[in-house]
Amino acid sequence: MSALFSPIKLAGLELPNRLVVSPMCQYSADDGSASDWHMMHLGMLANSGAALVIVEATGVERRGRITHGCLGLYSDDNELALARVIQQCRRRGTAKFGIQLAHAGRKASAQKPWDGGVALTKGQDPWPTIGPSAVTYGENWHTPAMMTEADMTCVCDAFVSSAKRALRIGFDEIELHMSHGYLLHSFMSPISNMRTDAFGGTMDNRLKFPLEVARAVRTVVPKNVPLGARITGSDWRQGGLTPDDAVTIAKSLKAAGIDFVCVSSGAITFDTRTPTEPGYNVAISEKVRREAGIPTRAVGLIFKPQQAEAIIAEGQADQIAMARAFLDDPHWAWHAAKALGAEVLRPQQYLRVGPKLWAPAAASA
Ligand SMILES: Cc1cc2nc3c(=O)[nH]c(=O)nc-3n(C[C@H](O)[C@H](O)[C@H](O)COP(=O)(O)O)c2cc1C
Repeated sequence: MSALFSPIKLAGLELPNRLVVSPMCQYSADDGSASDWHMMHLGMLANSGAALVIVEATGVERRGRITHGCLGLYSDDNELALARVIQQCRRRGTAKFGIQLAHAGRKASAQKPWDGGVALTKGQDPWPTIGPSAVTYGENWHTPAMMTEADMTCVCDAFVSSAKRALRIGFDEIELHMSHGYLLHSFMSPISNMRTDAFGGTMDNRLKFPLEVARAVRTVVPKNVPLGARITGSDWRQGGLTPDDAVTIAKSLKAAGIDFVCVSSGAITFDTRTPTEPGYNVAISEKVRREAGIPTRAVGLIFKPQQAEAIIAEGQADQIAMARAFLDDPHWAWHAAKALGAEVLRPQQYLRVGPKLWAPAAASA
């Protein structure tokens, strides 16, 4: 009996296995609106066998997108375009769908990775960015304007408005992006938050704005719809957030009504180096799960079925989020199920692929 392929219930959402496709920016939207590429990309992942697919970081404000090509949910056009894609994926696929709501903060106004991935230059239609403090992400990055309390109210309202749009589209789950150096993470980290007011200094103060956002979004997301957050397990920098801080963050988010956390790490500054060993966030996920008493998702260089199976079986996480492995093999979960002697949902058109195909009689026929 595979632990990875055992069911789980998060709030009112029942999932047949523990596999989650991690959010992945596609840089292929038009003023925030999903395109045919999203139909192909998410359609492919809808039948990957993962129980849940999380749509990429989706800007709650136009200025909160990372690049000109990033997805948004700040206009009626955005909502209509994403609804078209998600309705098709839900109708044709086996997976449930979640969305990651995000604000890029001081990492906004950047080039797509294949155009360089650094700050947009003068001729590339850059826009003004915001952050907790006027501190850049790296050399030659835009200096963000230090946010006023009015700015915070505006961004908080935008998260709520986007969450309402996501619910209207029919998303099964919502995840708030609080990692990878984007706005909410940049408030939490002492590396990027230099404020001397009520939103800076102590951990309690640095958490104040992200918790306000979490509580505000929770008021509009019904209890049966899981609301989670992707958090930072470590800034991997002297003076930055640590795994102990991640426990504090998770406990506070839990008290604010968050149902689960996905434990990621890194990217608070341009030159931060994230570890490269398999499962580098898993021990932090285990610590957060044990000490904060909240369901966790582990992510980061998990790519082998036995590795994922062991993480769930040993109680280091409740779910496994995987990004690159699902791009490399969009039927990764089918192959993992085969390796672990488990079954997985397949669309009826593909039902002839399955245990019968691998049986010795079929192999010799
Ligand atoms: C193409 C690509 C786009 C990504 N976009 C996002 C994103 O939108 N939001 C996010 O939280 N992480 C994003 N990530 C990070 C992944 O979700 C994941 O945390 C990271 O790749 C580590 O997992 P992996 O080793 O399974 O790829 C992205 C990664 C890739 C490869």
